[in-house]
Amino acid sequence: MGEFLGDWKRTALCAEFTTDDIGREVTLMGWADTRRDLGGLVFVDLRDRSGIMQVVFDESMFQGDFDKVGSIRSEFVLAVKGKIVERSEDTVNPKLPTGLIEVKVRELKILSKSETPPFEIEDGNKVREELRLKYRYLDLRRPEMQKNLMLRNKIANSARAYLTENGFLDIETPMLQKSTPEGARDYLVPSRIHPGCFYALPQSPQLFKQILMISGYDRYFQITKCFRDEDLRADRQPEFTQIDTEMSFVDADDVMTLHEGLLQRVFKDVLDIDVKLPLKRLSYQEAMNRFGSDKPDTRFGLELKDVSDIVAGSEFKVFSSVVKNGGSVRAINAKGCANILARREIDALVDFVKIYGAKGMAWISIREDGLNSPITKFMTQEEIDGIMERLDGKVGDILFFVGDKNSVVYDSLGALRLKLAEKLDLIEDNTWDLLWITEFPLFEYSEEEKRYVAKHHPFTSPMDEDVDKVTSDPEHARAKAYDIVLNGNEIGGGSIRIHSTELQEKMFEALGFSKEEAWERFGFLLEALKYGTPPHGGLAYGLDRLAMLMTGVESIRDVIAFPKVQNASDLMSKAPDTVDRKQLRELHIKVDEN
Ligand code: AMO
Ligand code: AMP
Repeated sequence: MGEFLGDWKRTALCAEFTTDDIGREVTLMGWADTRRDLGGLVFVDLRDRSGIMQVVFDESMFQGDFDKVGSIRSEFVLAVKGKIVERSEDTVNPKLPTGLIEVKVRELKILSKSETPPFEIEDGNKVREELRLKYRYLDLRRPEMQKNLMLRNKIANSARAYLTENGFLDIETPMLQKSTPEGARDYLVPSRIHPGCFYALPQSPQLFKQILMISGYDRYFQITKCFRDEDLRADRQPEFTQIDTEMSFVDADDVMTLHEGLLQRVFKDVLDIDVKLPLKRLSYQEAMNRFGSDKPDTRFGLELKDVSDIVAGSEFKVFSSVVKNGGSVRAINAKGCANILARREIDALVDFVKIYGAKGMAWISIREDGLNSPITKFMTQEEIDGIMERLDGKVGDILFFVGDKNSVVYDSLGALRLKLAEKLDLIEDNTWDLLWITEFPLFEYSEEEKRYVAKHHPFTSPMDEDVDKVTSDPEHARAKAYDIVLNGNEIGGGSIRIHSTELQEKMFEALGFSKEEAWERFGFLLEALKYGTPPHGGLAYGLDRLAMLMTGVESIRDVIAFPKVQNASDLMSKAPDTVDRKQLRELHIKVDEN
């Protein structure tokens, strides 16, 4: 059993002491990190979330049984009383902030022992992630994880301060909500009191924050959990956190300007980086045409160029038929890569774009001794000249082409761009590329459902000039929607909302809902809109993603204390799990054993 604290009080955290404290009598508490035992002299690195302090047990001055010192093992929780002294010159550790001092210990309490941990508590990803997550309490002791979570906390505090100073009220919205169609799959919670009825966990506070605007709260924010039952990726979790905001009597510019201020503030507070305003803005169409992505990384070039007009009449039927069928042929110039990329690397890139649906990828390598390419033999000199001019092809370059329907061309060349940038090391570290993407399409066609679905969500307002297109030409209707992109990641998104019942009904109609269905599922919103709704709009950040990028980690799981893995389970607590039959009976649920 461990010893009790008794009347011992900790003076400060381990790494909060400096040379100013030399000579001070102190009490320190923390975990035994590393330990060196030289017989009558034992050194222990005492660790807590602030860092490390070396404590020295010298048998000649230690009060008590020195065997106790010998029993200390890694991760034991210790309390020591002693004096801060200057380290002798040969023991100074310049790598530690506290490396000039140490504590000469007189008294020791072992507050708690530890079994030998399954892995060492140290930085670096030497341990399998499954093991780290199973023993998350140990993994979270690692200094880098503590740094990540402390930085995340700073982001949240900074955003909270900015929003509060700008008149936003923190108002909570329910976790148990009505399930509404559209969006991702819901997490459902069965009701005990209403047999056969279910609550849904919020995918976001969207409808409630709009209703708060109708209720006159003017500016709302909340840092809150959202739940979406979708396939997970490195930047996606089934439960994640949004910094969610909404404001009244604003247009898209007002919302973006306010949030530029928020980002500037957060980057300054957290990383001491000055963000220059205003941020760049790209329309969705321009982003797709130039970068093949609606979350472009614009820290490097390799932009897409459309060559459809040049190859429309080509003998190379792959290209001419794509253009005839309404698709396009686009290309990227990998500048100076002719001598860098070996033939097998080119073949690997061709295979790579096939992941994105491309049926093939043609290329032209421009060499001193002429063109090397599988397709130039099918092309006229005029076509080749046109391509060289459009892509600024020079000796030493390789041009890559994909022809297909636009979505495939964008996806595959967008991905190729990122792949090439990584391969050629084109992205400078510690650069922060923030930009807005605006004028998103209001709808996108779902092949799966054979109908239009909302690109953002069904409450997003069309652009004023495109209101008629909502039902007459949905494909070309643009939205008052904007995403904020950081280093090629979507860190937030928002829109101006529809503030009239009629337009909202029209929107549901375009999405394929009958009037009855729309009222049945969204009646509370349609009804509320009738009672005096201010124009309003907002934006929500993915806090986890922002924290992931600002800490520079690869996975969102490294900035979440207790994340889920790919199959949505928690390896530490083993959720989800079966429950008692009695619980199920109370909820009127029978599980289908098949
Ligand atoms: P949206 O669905 O774009 O908008 O979500 C806002 C931001 O939340 C983050 N995000 C996620 N992060 C981790 N895991 C996920 N599964 C996940 N899904 C989304 C992204 C995204 O940009 N109600 C609207 C906002 C609004 O219109 O105001 C909404 O939820 O960074
Ligand atoms: P093929 O005639 O199918 O052998 O193709 C000749 C060249 O065109 C090969 O380099 C293919 O990779 C390339 N190619 C085939 N389909 C496409 C396509 N849809 N877009 C771009 N290049 C393609």
